[in-house]
Amino acid sequence: MRVNAPLRVVSIGGGPAGLFFSIVLKRVHPCAEIVVHERNAPDDTFGWGVVFSDQTLGNIAAADPDTFARIAAEFVHWDAIDVNYRGRTIRAGGQGFAGIARKRLLGILQERALALGVDVRFRSPIEAGDIADADVIVAADGANSATRRAHETTFGTTLEGRRCRYMWLGCRQSFEAFTFAFERTDHGWFQIHAYQFDADTSTVIVECREETWRATGLDTMSTADSIAYCERLFARFLGGHPLVSNAAHLASPWLSFVQVNNARWSHGNIVLLGDAAHTAHFSIGSGTKLALEDAIALANALAAHPEPQAAFAAYEAERRIEVLRLQNAARNSTEWFENVARYAALESEQFAYSLLSRSQRLSHENLKVRDGAYVRRVEGWLAERSGLSQPVPPMFLPYRLREVELVNRVVVSPMAMYRCQDGTPDDFYLVHLGARAQGGAGLVFTEMTCVAADARISPGCAGMYRDEHLAGWKRIVDFVHANTPAKIALQLGHAGPKGSTQVGWESPDEPLPEGNWPLIGPSPVPFGERNAIPREMTRDDMDRVTKQFVRAAHMGIAAGFDLLELHCAHGYLFSSFITPLTNKRTDAYGGSLENRLRFPLEVFAALRANWPERLPMSVRISATDWVEEGVTPDDAVEIARAFHAAGADLIDVSAGQTSRRAKPVYGRMFQTPFSDKIRNELGIATMAVGNITDADQVNGIIASGRADLVAIGRMHLADPYFTLHAAAALDYTAQPWPLSYLPGRDQYVRTSRRAAEAAEVVR
Ligand SMILES: Cc1cc2nc3c(=O)[nH]c(=O)nc-3n(C[C@H](O)[C@H](O)[C@H](O)COP(=O)(O)OP(=O)(O)OC[C@H]3O[C@@H](n4cnc5c(N)ncnc54)[C@H](O)[C@@H]3O)c2cc1C
Ligand SMILES: Cc1cc2nc3c(=O)[nH]c(=O)nc-3n(C[C@H](O)[C@H](O)[C@H](O)COP(=O)(O)O)c2cc1C
Repeated sequence: MRVNAPLRVVSIGGGPAGLFFSIVLKRVHPCAEIVVHERNAPDDTFGWGVVFSDQTLGNIAAADPDTFARIAAEFVHWDAIDVNYRGRTIRAGGQGFAGIARKRLLGILQERALALGVDVRFRSPIEAGDIADADVIVAADGANSATRRAHETTFGTTLEGRRCRYMWLGCRQSFEAFTFAFERTDHGWFQIHAYQFDADTSTVIVECREETWRATGLDTMSTADSIAYCERLFARFLGGHPLVSNAAHLASPWLSFVQVNNARWSHGNIVLLGDAAHTAHFSIGSGTKLALEDAIALANALAAHPEPQAAFAAYEAERRIEVLRLQNAARNSTEWFENVARYAALESEQFAYSLLSRSQRLSHENLKVRDGAYVRRVEGWLAERSGLSQPVPPMFLPYRLREVELVNRVVVSPMAMYRCQDGTPDDFYLVHLGARAQGGAGLVFTEMTCVAADARISPGCAGMYRDEHLAGWKRIVDFVHANTPAKIALQLGHAGPKGSTQVGWESPDEPLPEGNWPLIGPSPVPFGERNAIPREMTRDDMDRVTKQFVRAAHMGIAAGFDLLELHCAHGYLFSSFITPLTNKRTDAYGGSLENRLRFPLEVFAALRANWPERLPMSVRISATDWVEEGVTPDDAVEIARAFHAAGADLIDVSAGQTSRRAKPVYGRMFQTPFSDKIRNELGIATMAVGNITDADQVNGIIASGRADLVAIGRMHLADPYFTLHAAAALDYTAQPWPLSYLPGRDQYVRTSRRAAEAAEVVR
């Protein structure tokens, strides 16, 4: 740090962020001169209780054992979450949370800061412009930070309002567990999030959709009437205790959450901290956690770096990823509560599981470690619904589509291998698909198999338009049926505007250096700058293409395939009709979504009419274009509804790859929320796909009802035996292995157990 002059720091705001920052900085850098300006009086706080997970408490303990000891002496600790829904209470234990009154937390932090020599000034509103002599100005002035607003262009601030209204109330009711309760009204769903935070007080947050709030008339009701309404609605959970507001200072007690983000967290000598920098929805209870962890990181960075600018950079580098991770989880959680109506058809067991795993952070195995009995009950319930007498890991539940029985929920996603000569699948395909079928997946997909030579993506793509193709595929299908319990699906497609491109390991989506063939599409819109302009399809073209698909379907029947999928995703022909980004037609096949779907639906109907009644059909869609004026997840629901009405048994929910302008949001299971939306809003079967990489995720997706089947692509390229390995790791013995491989299974199980035991010892 500075050799001669002490570091002068001013915090605007004495909330959890500003106060804890001053405490940690005093500990790691005792000579710093720190002033905290708080506009309110010391005990003049809004709100009720805050919640910390055990992990956050650990971070506080490491940063300042004294603060931790004082908080620990007062907090209420609880272990279980109760989900009250449709007259039942589902309890899951092992959750490990602590609650404390926000007022007490602030009191503890104030006392500690003062004891360490921080100059805390109450009733002292201040603006950054009034602070002349500080080396560092910490903007810890909360979600509505005026300091941030004064420089919002420089900070790159974005504010995103959400769809719910909520009221933060107190109540004398004792809640044994963190309690969620849901009540349906004529105007929509209301929920409470309730938790006890001291000997006799609990926080009760009442929440509902904005339109429900308005339709109920809460927007014009007085605070007293709003509260009376909520008391009546949730009477059976409140034990006769009134709900109390302490938000008299607000114009309305009903708030709406705003997600705050900033592209930069510092500007000159000003640095953003806590809610001023970022917010996270209260439904994962992490705003104060983030504020305190920011405080620790900034204080440590200032102690480690003599120059404030370097300290700000180090602080931002350390915190940004963690904050983003938490905000992503919080976003999933926010969306879950905004869409309670979507899950209303689920039975209590699955509704509760979906709620518990809503952020996609708490996995099936996490839940098992926390409360094994709870997970066994869920697995038992799922098994019973599948006609099994014993619980099984959810990925091993059987599934039926028309007359096709799948032995489990794992699917090998369609993946182009680019190894065909003139479209013929050869020995490479036999071994590739054969090995994956032996590897235990319930269903194995062919890659996009093209219905004509000029329908191919690349010269290496598989086809279904010549006798050799039928013979090649039949050999593979026969092998799968004769040697494995797996079923095998044929994915049929036409590349449309994305045709005549290079194979996957060259420059995919780029045209061939030579030997290109002409392209067709809905409109003369090329996929990219270098791609050829497709010719706008005429009615004759549509009839010809429809016939090609019907011919390929008949060859698929002759080859013995169990399921037929129409590829309507990823910017290929049908997808290019569905998305307005490439469909610019002005006839009956362009314009509205209904029109854009017309040709894909015509082809689907022709296939359904020719594909055997006893066999299922699926459709792969891109559930979003990830481009502002493109297909949205709401459109995807309508697309799925239309295909379902036309006889699709399963919607295979992929996303994107329809435009080079797309800005996808990647992450674990990043496309699964689209499957969840379609499945639960329409009540139809879906398959999830996209960055699903382990058995734990598959189990969670199936148990929560986010999909009926789970397709795994790249992990199956790395491990054809994904499912057999998962069965061994989960001690699931009913998974059939090829008989000749049984000694391998036993050896694998022994080795896995030894590795698990060794990991346990290390822990
Ligand atoms: C309904 C609800 C429930 C929540 N539940 C939880 C929970 O259970 N767990 C959890 O961890 N978090 C929870 N939070 C989030 C939590 O309240 C905040 O994330 C947390 O308080 C952020 O701390 P902060 O210090 O950054 O901001 P704040 O707590 O907002 O503090 C900012 C302070 O700055 C002061 N200030 C503002 N402007 C000036 C000025 N110009 N001059 C001087 N002072 C100023 C304000 O008076 C205030 O005291 C919840 C939030 C809500 C709305
Ligand atoms: C090499 C490769 C080829 C692919 N070919 C196809 C295909 O032919 N048809 C299709 O619908 N999707 C295709 N995909 C997409 C996958 O089916 C899957 O949706 C995607 O890889 C995301 O899943 P993952 O994260 O499990 O890999 C392909 C993916 C890869 C990696």
